[in-house]
Amino acid sequence: MKDLIQIGAGVQAGKPDLRFGTSAAPNDRAGFARAVVAVTSGKGGVGKSTVAVNLAVGCAQRGLRVGLLDADVYGPSVPRMLSLHGERLEWSDDDKMIPAENFGVKLVSTALTTPELDTPLAWRSSVATSALVQLIEDVDWGELDILFVDMPPGTGDVQITVVQEVKLTYAVVVTTPQTVATDDVARAIRMLADVGVPAGLVENMSFFRAPDTGAIYHPFGEGGGRGLAERYQLPLLGTLALAPSVMTRADEGLPAVAGGAPEDQAPWQALVDHLLKQPSLLERLPPGTATTHQENI
Ligand SMILES: Nc1ncnc2c1ncn2[C@@H]1O[C@H](COP(=O)(O)OP(=O)(O)OP(=O)(O)O)[C@@H](O)[C@H]1O
Ligand SMILES: [Mg+2]
Repeated sequence: MKDLIQIGAGVQAGKPDLRFGTSAAPNDRAGFARAVVAVTSGKGGVGKSTVAVNLAVGCAQRGLRVGLLDADVYGPSVPRMLSLHGERLEWSDDDKMIPAENFGVKLVSTALTTPELDTPLAWRSSVATSALVQLIEDVDWGELDILFVDMPPGTGDVQITVVQEVKLTYAVVVTTPQTVATDDVARAIRMLADVGVPAGLVENMSFFRAPDTGAIYHPFGEGGGRGLAERYQLPLLGTLALAPSVMTRADEGLPAVAGGAPEDQAPWQALVDHLLKQPSLLERLPPGTATTHQENI
């Protein structure tokens, strides 16, 4: 029988054997993917994981081979959003981790390597970064069209590791309209610009439509996403409503893009279409990549 998956073990045992890349000359540890797309923000709680999950599922619905790396090694939330929180990663015969899979998306996450769902991931950052490299490299991903990377908040160790260890094709930067969010998000945008990664913005929780009257409210203010897009000359890939159905579907593990009322799905489908039209992605994805989704995933 194979051992339990133990990631970060080399560093914990005092045997760091990784050759880390640099921002100027990143390693190419995700060469198995035609494109690598980070979903990032700088700011916490703005909807990065929700956006990453829906983009990944939406791309799988279009027939692309999709992986999702939950790079939030301390606070992984993606497995539940894909109804995969009960799974545990297993070793393949050639000593690679086999990703969990649902909705056509292959997922790895530290949450799928712990004995219990609530086992704390209390690691020093050297252990966390080596665990992250393992989740990229020691995994039987197969060939992928897109690997999405769901980033934790901030511009710290994990973000630096991702930009130094994989060649990012694109970054989807998630913000809310609020100035307190856009201040942090601006730092993430500058970090991406410094390493030459093209980026687009998503404004999440942009507005709330009252279900009874249809009136539109802006609980987090207005225009933050557009302001950032103009200031940093980035495309605004989408504006998404604050919708209770998005939250409940995340908890239920049924991404908004994969079901529910057509009017709730439409903005997410439009976001996927807009992302797939970005030139840096178009040039890497299979010719004729579909921009209409298939309902049967
Ligand atoms: N458009 C939305 N409408 C309603 N709820 C949303 C929306 N987007 C995200 N949420 C909810 O907001 C919370 C935060 O979302 P999420 O976990 O995706 O953010 P995050 O940026 O990944 O957070 P963290 O920084 O902790 O990783 C979750 O409860 C999620 O279900
Ligand atoms: Mg998250």
